[in-house]
Amino acid sequence: MTATREGTDTADVFDEQTRQRAQEIIARYPRSRSALLPMLHLVQSVEGYVSQAGMAFCAQQLGITTAEVSAVVTFYTMYKRQPAGEHLVSVCTNTLCAALGGDEIYARLRKQLGVGHEETAGRPGSTGSITLEHAECLAACDLAPVLQVNYEFYDNQTPESAVALVDALRRGDRPPPTRGAPLTDWRSTELQLAGFFGEAQELRDAVDAPSAAPETLAGNQLAQDNGWQAPAMPDQAPPLPTVPEKK
Ligand code: FES
Repeated sequence: MTATREGTDTADVFDEQTRQRAQEIIARYPRSRSALLPMLHLVQSVEGYVSQAGMAFCAQQLGITTAEVSAVVTFYTMYKRQPAGEHLVSVCTNTLCAALGGDEIYARLRKQLGVGHEETAGRPGSTGSITLEHAECLAACDLAPVLQVNYEFYDNQTPESAVALVDALRRGDRPPPTRGAPLTDWRSTELQLAGFFGEAQELRDAVDAPSAAPETLAGNQLAQDNGWQAPAMPDQAPPLPTVPEKK
């Protein structure tokens, strides 16, 4: 019996398969505490968020305190403290996307779904339920404005295309991302982030899916077309400039 301070028995929440997966994750690292990040993704694949029981489960498995687990959970925005929807929709509202329409997209989706940041339209986990969030730069500025569903990219969005996308998700459809792996649901994505890929074909599909966009490769293509090359790296690194001694 493994109970948390709040009285939740983690055995009620995390079954034998999850415990075995936890042990597989821990075995990947020389020190068990290094396994915390993928362990939290594993917890989210089961619960749809990180509950008190989820934090206690990680602490027990890793031999650390729940305070240490909580410090990590509350630092990273990928770990959710409330049950998430079937899909997580992340709208980039960082500088470039915001200037090109990201703020308007986020505002339209808030209105369309009737929710705010990190709130869920529909019963969390049920088909068509959507958690909405605004996100910092998603590292796809050349394709701005972008949004992600379960961390898969939908590039060059407009308010209209974004509304059409969430309407399709609400109906239970899964429109293909612009690039990358096929769209699944958020909990399945969390299991993948923990390092478990289910059927071999599912993994193959995800790996084989196109991921590079022409916009991202434009500079590389230009260099190829013109026969440009970066200068070769010197055999020996040039000496560093001398720095005045601190007094
Ligand atoms: S600002 Fe949106 S992807 Fe960089």
